[in-house]
Amino acid sequence: MAQITSYFQNLNFSVEEGPLVEDDFHNFEALNLPKYHPARDMQDTFYCNDGAVLRTHTSPVQIRTMMSQKPPIRMIAPGTVFRKDFDITHTPMFHQIEGLVVEKEGVVSFANLKFVMEEFLTHMFGDVEVRFRPSFFPFTEPSAEVDISCIFCKDESTGKSSGCRVCSHTGWLEVLGCGIVDENVFKAVGYEKVSGYAFGLGIERFAMLIHKIGDLRSLFESDIRLLGQFR
Ligand code: PHE
Repeated sequence: MAQITSYFQNLNFSVEEGPLVEDDFHNFEALNLPKYHPARDMQDTFYCNDGAVLRTHTSPVQIRTMMSQKPPIRMIAPGTVFRKDFDITHTPMFHQIEGLVVEKEGVVSFANLKFVMEEFLTHMFGDVEVRFRPSFFPFTEPSAEVDISCIFCKDESTGKSSGCRVCSHTGWLEVLGCGIVDENVFKAVGYEKVSGYAFGLGIERFAMLIHKIGDLRSLFESDIRLLGQFR
């Protein structure tokens, strides 16, 4: 988290924060996820009694920052998030880093987003191929999921990843979500005549890949044999 944060700080991104217990407006509604919309099922939400939720992503910090500052904006939001999920690649509490750039209308394009993501991912993972796949997020349009070529089955002589168990024999690993900020998000925060891009990624997912940790849950088990390797 510190490594990714300082990478973006060097690119002049500010670091923003928000509450872990969020209201419906910031976690969903303002992010173009209306009440009863089926896309809310994408997030396995922990609901609190009074309509508040444990934030399911760091995206509500985008909304809070835009509502308290004027454009241009260039921010990241590192922080804890919560989802009802538990298996070798998911824990109910984990961490994300969100990024948001907002500029005057017509200034920011998908090409800018693509360049920044490619530079960032090769900084983090070394000499990898980066692939953008069309995807869906309610708050970005168009949206993409970004893959890197698998670092576990990469053949050092050809540079090609031939497929293994970690990449489900595809040769690719999914590492983040991103896109051009949807007009409805700008409407919700009262911004006009602006353009922007956003991205979000899971810290534990990056840690697993970089440190070759087989089960994400072991990051939270306080096993001294594992922790001792991170002195
Ligand atoms: N908030 C999304 C998630 O948690 C990630 C994301 C952030 C996607 C910003 C696009 C833009 O899955």
